[in-house]
Amino acid sequence: MDQPATGSVDNETTDQSYADAEARSARLEEELRTDPGAHRMLTGDRPTGPLHLGHYFGTLHNRVRLQDTGIQMFVLVADYQTITDRDSPKSLPQDVDALLADYLAVGIDPERTTIFAHTQITALNQLFLPFLSLVSVAELNRNPTVKDEVNAAGQTAMSGLMFTYPVHQAADILFCKGTVVPVGKDQLPHLEVARVVARRFNRRYSRERRYFPEPAALLSEAPVLLGTDGQKMSKSRGNAIALSATADETSRLLSRAKTDSERRITYDPANRPDVSNLVLLGALCLDRTPESVAEEVGAGGSAALKSLVAEAVNERFRDIRKRRAELIADRGHLRRILAAGNERAREVADATLADVKRLMHTDYPIG
Ligand code: TRP
Repeated sequence: MDQPATGSVDNETTDQSYADAEARSARLEEELRTDPGAHRMLTGDRPTGPLHLGHYFGTLHNRVRLQDTGIQMFVLVADYQTITDRDSPKSLPQDVDALLADYLAVGIDPERTTIFAHTQITALNQLFLPFLSLVSVAELNRNPTVKDEVNAAGQTAMSGLMFTYPVHQAADILFCKGTVVPVGKDQLPHLEVARVVARRFNRRYSRERRYFPEPAALLSEAPVLLGTDGQKMSKSRGNAIALSATADETSRLLSRAKTDSERRITYDPANRPDVSNLVLLGALCLDRTPESVAEEVGAGGSAALKSLVAEAVNERFRDIRKRRAELIADRGHLRRILAAGNERAREVADATLADVKRLMHTDYPIG
């Protein structure tokens, strides 16, 4: 009995290669064009601080585009995931409100999209337990993203929840039988866990009819925006322009942004990453090519570039910021929207858990 937890885990190879994921993503993009109603999208964010422009151009923008295709959408406030690497903060309710305000301000529409928080969905969390039985410790141990997150948090010890959270994330996706998960490349190892869980559950408990669909990543083609210091844009690095930043804060952050000593502005991401990142941000806000923005600034140098970008950001986000300010002033409204989304997610999760219990023979009558 040296492997009780893993003894029944199927020893199949996982199709982990990036090329496979990319091919699936391209196929999915095509299917979404022809038959969006056949898919269900699930994605989400941890409520650990306000969302920033990297989120906007990386994923939020794309979510709104997908919502407009008519696909069924679920957007998750991943509040349990905040305790993988920290204590649950007293500020959690405000952090959740901030995330909701960001979502609604950019155009995620609660009439068409179910916005919910997974701490509130009991049946979703109960799926975590049987799902844990479907993966081995060795597999979880190979997840590079979990390791990166532990390192980034500067922690030496990894909590059990941190170690297993990709399985919890599988419950986030599978409770609603999600098929499309728009994510960045770093989330692919987690998605692989969800695919493995779905496949093994079906093989073990639902051979006749595949119960869970295998979800696939929809990889964003969006360019990666760096922070104002040339590192990855991130809430914790202090280099991010929040969606909710004021025009003055935006200008101030950009005036301190890293550039280089060459006067003439060009778009050359390989050799001039800092300048090119600012050019890219301006171009994204203006819906123009980076080359044309660089051309326009030309000999004006970095001061001219920074003021052009600040103006472009402030113009592009003026309405979103105005809407966001109104939303955050009415917390009752935000909570009502979340309550309605939770209610809908609960119905879906209850139905899935009932099926899972039936398939696993754990729905036997008592008494
Ligand atoms: N792990 C994701 C992140 O850190 C958040 C998340 C939680 C998520 N559950 C999810 C993303 C399910 C997609 C699908 O950003």
